[in-house]
Amino acid sequence: MRRKLVAGNWKMHGTRDMALSLVRDIAAKQPDGTEVVVFPPFPYLDPLIRAHGDVLGFGGQDVSEHDQPGAWTGEISAAMLEDIGCAWALVGHSERRQHHHEGNAQVAAKFAAARQAGLLPMLCVGETKEQRDAGCTEAVLTEQLSAVIEAAGIEAFRDAVVAYEPIWAIGTGTTATPEQVQQAHSFIRSLLAAGDAKISGLTRVLYGGSVKPANAAVLFAQADVDGGLIGGASLTADDFLAICAAAQSCA
Ligand code: 13P
Repeated sequence: MRRKLVAGNWKMHGTRDMALSLVRDIAAKQPDGTEVVVFPPFPYLDPLIRAHGDVLGFGGQDVSEHDQPGAWTGEISAAMLEDIGCAWALVGHSERRQHHHEGNAQVAAKFAAARQAGLLPMLCVGETKEQRDAGCTEAVLTEQLSAVIEAAGIEAFRDAVVAYEPIWAIGTGTTATPEQVQQAHSFIRSLLAAGDAKISGLTRVLYGGSVKPANAAVLFAQADVDGGLIGGASLTADDFLAICAAAQSCA
């Protein structure tokens, strides 16, 4: 049985005060059975982990593929994230792929770097609207996932998480239908199963893209949906907690 997981990706939002109060509210009211992870902006990680790292999981929104020490101005190593108490690192978010030109090889290197430092990678995959309309969704998912499986090995997916985030659903208010989500998730699981059936059965696959309190339960009720990666709605404690409660009700 895979434990439901709800993660909040704050992207580049907030202030220190807002971060502390949001995480305080989430930590106080999160449901028991669901795992909750927060990806705040880097500067807020340390104070948030000090305050609430005992009840919530934390991670970096990105991680360098390079080892430290090294002359990599502006980069944050996986070892640094681990050092301050992060358990997780988000890799391959579509905004990194699109705006920072991260390709599958770099994403795979980040995944491997996170793993090597003892972090759990949360690998984001997903197609554009054009790719879906052209019938290429499965080809895109295969390319994105295979690059990581080939580079890091299927064993590296033990405890890792895959987040299916169709780009056309991110921040648009257009959520993928439960059927579209289930289809993509079951396809992702079949790709993992080609490497190792047992690991495929254990790997949690999250959905991300305009998840709100009103649509969370029906999405999380799908057989291969193990929770969500939440953007906009993770910036409001009530909304995020309602989404966590929806995951709990589907557990
Ligand atoms: P939204 O929930 O705002 O659509 O963002 C999803 C996302 O990109 C989470 O990583």
